[in-house]
Amino acid sequence: MLKLWKVVRPARQLELHRLILLLIAFSLGSMGFLAYYVSTSPKAKEPMPLPLGDCSSGAAGAPGPVRPPVPPRPPRPPETARTEPVVLVFVESAYSQLGQEIVAILESSRFRYSTELAPGRGDMPTLTDHTRGRYVLVIYENLLKYVNLDAWSRELLDRYCVEYGVGIIGFFRAHEHSLLSAQLKGFPLFLHSNLGLRDYQVNPTAPLLHLTRPSRLEPGPLPGDDWTIFQSNHSTYEPVLLASLRLAEPPVPGPVPRRARLPTVVQDLGLHDGIQRVLFGHGLSFWLHKLVFVDAVAYLTGKRLCLDLDRYILVDIDDIFVGKEGTRMKVADVEALLTTQNKLRTLVPNFTFNLGFSGKFYHTGTEEEDAGDDMLLKHRQEFWWFPHMWSHMQPHLFHNRSVLADQMRLNKQFALEHGIPTDLGYAVAPHHSGVYPIHTQLYEAWKSVWGIQVTSTEEYPHLRPARYRRGFIHNGIMVLPRQTCGLFTHTIFYNEYPGGSRELDRSIRGGELFLTVLLNPISIFMTHLSNYGNDRLGLYTFESLVRFLQCWTRLRLQTLPPVPLARKYFDLFPQERSPLWQNPCDDKRHKDIWSKEKTCDRLPKFLIVGPQKTGTTAIHFFLSLHPAVTSSFPSPSTFEEIQFFNGPNYHKGIDWYMDFFPVPSNASTDFLFEKSATYFDSEVVPRRGAALLPRAKIITVLTNPADRAYSWYQHQRAHGDPVALNYTFYQVISASSQAPPALRSLQNRCLVPGYYSTHLQRWLTYYPSGQLLIVDGQELRTNPAASMESIQKFLGITPFLNYTRTLRFDEDKGFWCQGLEGGKTRCLGKSKGRKYPDMDTESRLFLKDFFRNHNLELSKLLSRLGQPVPSWLREELQHSSSG
Ligand code: A3P
Repeated sequence: MLKLWKVVRPARQLELHRLILLLIAFSLGSMGFLAYYVSTSPKAKEPMPLPLGDCSSGAAGAPGPVRPPVPPRPPRPPETARTEPVVLVFVESAYSQLGQEIVAILESSRFRYSTELAPGRGDMPTLTDHTRGRYVLVIYENLLKYVNLDAWSRELLDRYCVEYGVGIIGFFRAHEHSLLSAQLKGFPLFLHSNLGLRDYQVNPTAPLLHLTRPSRLEPGPLPGDDWTIFQSNHSTYEPVLLASLRLAEPPVPGPVPRRARLPTVVQDLGLHDGIQRVLFGHGLSFWLHKLVFVDAVAYLTGKRLCLDLDRYILVDIDDIFVGKEGTRMKVADVEALLTTQNKLRTLVPNFTFNLGFSGKFYHTGTEEEDAGDDMLLKHRQEFWWFPHMWSHMQPHLFHNRSVLADQMRLNKQFALEHGIPTDLGYAVAPHHSGVYPIHTQLYEAWKSVWGIQVTSTEEYPHLRPARYRRGFIHNGIMVLPRQTCGLFTHTIFYNEYPGGSRELDRSIRGGELFLTVLLNPISIFMTHLSNYGNDRLGLYTFESLVRFLQCWTRLRLQTLPPVPLARKYFDLFPQERSPLWQNPCDDKRHKDIWSKEKTCDRLPKFLIVGPQKTGTTAIHFFLSLHPAVTSSFPSPSTFEEIQFFNGPNYHKGIDWYMDFFPVPSNASTDFLFEKSATYFDSEVVPRRGAALLPRAKIITVLTNPADRAYSWYQHQRAHGDPVALNYTFYQVISASSQAPPALRSLQNRCLVPGYYSTHLQRWLTYYPSGQLLIVDGQELRTNPAASMESIQKFLGITPFLNYTRTLRFDEDKGFWCQGLEGGKTRCLGKSKGRKYPDMDTESRLFLKDFFRNHNLELSKLLSRLGQPVPSWLREELQHSSSG
């Protein structure tokens, strides 16, 4: 239990701190990890405009004496790991700040995680899946929630950690009511809280260090007065981060050295109870804790969730020649640019500024600035160059591709006349216009005029949060995510930096900019011409950043030209090659750079997703009779269906998709829809559908999966498929896993779509159940008016069409059709409602057995959703239970 002192009133706190120090002093002899001493004296911060560099040149990596580390228990090697690479994060509440900071780092690092509210009694989430552990690491936002778990949950969690080699990260955050000194329940570890600290240093022998480079002692106060330090004499605890008490006067005489180094982060090597832990005596608001946290994750997961040391940085300088008169670069600025580039090259091999130009504005500054333009051109071979548009126009404003291409040609002509290299294969569009959302005309023109292979944008999938930015490839052009460094065209003076110059320095020194490089293997930064004139904030920012990174991390900084850089990006993140299209009108920034000649109204309000052979064409036909409902135009290439979301068509982009829909006369009352029956069982469609059409309603039709399978087989026979012609239905459905691939493929198309519950679950991951309608295919066949009535209700279509009057049963066809005047009918074509022999009994029995579990799961799912169980399913389950 927590012991020692109870809470005391603030007036007595100084006394108490003295008491703590006495206690520390008393136990110092036996506590190895408190015995760290300061050996350096504070250094003053250099003022602007010299770049920040507190541990310049030789300072990094040569810290003072420490005791040798205790050999850690070796982490489980990744190949033998029996856990999923997922982090379990126990948060205090859905809104707690530390919880969000933890999640932000995991997300930025692209690590998978799952958050749970830290459980009360007996609510521990399931930790294993059969013999596999669900989590590779457990994080407690509040360490006390872990130590105070009820005995049963604690035993469960600890046993899981020991058995699966899973570590724990915990944060202890003191608050005003925290006990000032206490033993951590069940651990040979004491905590002393609510302390002010200063002068921090990373223990160079801490085993978890990976990205973190231990530096010399860093002078200065740590933010806040609510720090906790750890104290123990057990060899399992190894200090990671050390600091001194922040007291003006040496509070106690005697054996406590004035600057005793006290651990605020400790690593538990697992020697006490077989579980490795990393404990933080504060949250993540202190920047160094973030860095150590990333290393703790890597260490405790045996480097399964680990960032590599290589970091590629490309700095774009946009708007060359474009900047406003009075803010542009002069000759001395260009000289400084060259000098800094050379300096940076000693720290970042090959570092080269990447200059984006619009030739039309050459020589449009003051006389001195025009000389600056010429100086840039004089040294053109020392930089990389990329084109904007000739007149810096936004491409999405130009619908005509050839106008865009003409504009580009003017810029290219300028480049050729001035000897600017034009072979980088990279371009950037002003204000990201045309890159995302895609303006197809821009991509075409870029390719034809410049041979562009790479571009970059901040807009995919959205500007914020920046950590979600991703890349994609469209029409042969690789689009990379772009980062900002806090410098915009108007931020040109250090002292006028928004929020004060300390904001910029904070971002560089462990803040947002630092984290961007720390957590992204590849960063393309956007800066502007004006950031290199005036106070030259661009130079200050990057030199300071690089020095700070070199000082505190072991990152290997380097740069690459855009094309190899993009190739590297998609080698690292191949899953990002394929884009995820969204509705351009759902984000104001996207809408602003979406062509005025385009609309977002040419998108369906609902989808009929299949599966095939369940009656989807009948619904499509019947709905098309409704005056308020309009189907997409038939596609000539994919059997009339567009099949956009599930195949190669998706890569043609949303312009291509929208061309299949008319512009509705009234976007709010007209119902555009699309039917592609292959969507139902596709892995990718629900995710893609929800990204572009998040509010769309989804209609699926389910018949007995055995009948569906047989109908598909007959369909293939009717289309002359040699496999279907050469094998009986029974041979197809019962083929073994060694059967020829063509036979297996037909078997799959017969059986897999019938795993209804599996496919529906996937749809329900992306769409709320209220947006999903399951139509009973048997009812649709025998009483379509009833089905159409429920569909109209579900969609909320007005006016209501009376299908009892609209449809008529056609005896010859044996199906319901559109009733025409004079007793005539219009039915679906020959390929729907074919005549073929009934399924043989052997196949029927085989399939009944085969689909039994899938059908059971379906009935459970439907009852969970509160949806009616279709008649065919009821029959099927009745027979299966009696048989
Ligand atoms: P069969 O041709 O095997 O009988 P889909 O359009 O999804 O591919 O489904 C075709 C199936 O729809 C047909 O399979 C048929 O059983 C069923 N169907 C339901 N109502 C129909 C109708 N009014 N006209 C034709 N076929 C209909």
